[in-house]
Amino acid sequence: MKITVIGAGYVGLVTAVCLAELNNNVLCVERPSFDLSKLEKGISHFYEPELDELLAKNIKGNRIEFTVDLDKAIDFSDVIFICVGTPQSDTGKADLSQVENIARQIAKRLNSYKLIIEKSTVPVNTHQWVKKTIKRYAHSDLDFDVASNPEFLREGSAVSDFMKPDRIVVGVESDRAKRVFKEIYSPFIEEGYPVLITTPAASELIKHAANSFLALKISYINMVAELCEKANVDINMVADGIGYDKRVGRAFLNAGIGYGGSCFPKDVKAFINIAEEHGVDFTLLKEVERVNSKKRIDFVKKVEEVLWINKDKNIAVWGLSFKPNTDDIREAPSLDIIRELSNKGANLRLYDPQAITNFKSVFPENNRVKFFKNKYDAIKNADALLILTEWDEFKKADLDKMETLMNLPIIIDGRNLYKSNKMEKFEYYNVGRGKINELEVLK
Ligand code: UDX
Repeated sequence: MKITVIGAGYVGLVTAVCLAELNNNVLCVERPSFDLSKLEKGISHFYEPELDELLAKNIKGNRIEFTVDLDKAIDFSDVIFICVGTPQSDTGKADLSQVENIARQIAKRLNSYKLIIEKSTVPVNTHQWVKKTIKRYAHSDLDFDVASNPEFLREGSAVSDFMKPDRIVVGVESDRAKRVFKEIYSPFIEEGYPVLITTPAASELIKHAANSFLALKISYINMVAELCEKANVDINMVADGIGYDKRVGRAFLNAGIGYGGSCFPKDVKAFINIAEEHGVDFTLLKEVERVNSKKRIDFVKKVEEVLWINKDKNIAVWGLSFKPNTDDIREAPSLDIIRELSNKGANLRLYDPQAITNFKSVFPENNRVKFFKNKYDAIKNADALLILTEWDEFKKADLDKMETLMNLPIIIDGRNLYKSNKMEKFEYYNVGRGKINELEVLK
């Protein structure tokens, strides 16, 4: 199939590459100011495991091309995925100007039936506006469909999330649109992945409701962790204990310093806003946000409780990205925590496997903030180590070596990475593990 993907950002590029991998002919378009040279060489402009290999493979196989010519991209196919940004405005409301602009451009070039698919996360009933806009600006009364097909890709595992989805959600209004989706997703249908056909409005809402629910799970477990810490109970045992219930599930019950990233904070805010616009006061989600912000403040308080005075202390930090396997620092807890500690006059020694370049653009190096290429260099002479992201390489770090390198063997772990029986040499603090215990399942 010939498919156009508008936008080569996170969602757009992953979608385009994966659709090419499924043997489609994909043309992916970016704005004129975008430099395509790296992409054309098979190198993506952000770090995502597996993506570059697939990109290079599909360029070689002539299944994917890039352009900055939007008209050409619209003319290229009858199936158009809109993957442009829907950033958050000051009020939390999604800014849909890019979606609207694309709808107008499509309208101008409408010369045959087209299926226009919203993949960007948009408020419920946006499809109606897209439809109305196309109708208003079109020069002909040619038939077209607007559908919703939200992405559920996690950064760091986006390619495998696309290729092995829990479900694919499609919101359509016509049989014709449904048939096109059936063709696009036939490899998944054949392999038994659930492809759910809903209405466009339900599909749009599913995306916000899904992400908000996951954020809610995180804030919930973080509050239970707060109680565990006071009651001297290990939160991991509690999370396992409730997670074994299939109705609850263990995923997204890892306590820590809360969620960040380009999706959860934005989507929770947008969902509260959407509800408000419909006259629904979603206080539950407001509390989710409040708890999430509080976790960052609590962590800084904990550092102060442990180290007493922060000024002039050498504090090493492992982990700057909002989660592992990405270089993304958007809304990362590290930003607030490091800003706060830097305000208190601490000397910060920062390390992350991927996110240093991005972090430096927000926090340039100075005499109090230093970046290190190696995690062990970062902890040399440190009075404490803070762990802010759950990268695998931190879990596997050489604890004996760490202890010899540090000035004081103090670890304040915001992601609960280590097992109790390995930490005797350290003053080890975590989030909600109280007296650390390991759960045993009798066999
Ligand atoms: C999320 C959704 O999972 C994905 O479906 C959607 O399409 C985009 O938003 P992503 O932002 O990549 O994906 O990150 P995710 O893996 O969901 O983690 C989000 C945040 O929650 C991270 O900061 C992570 O550290 C935190 N988290 C996650 C926890 O604090 N505890 C958990 O148990 C799980």
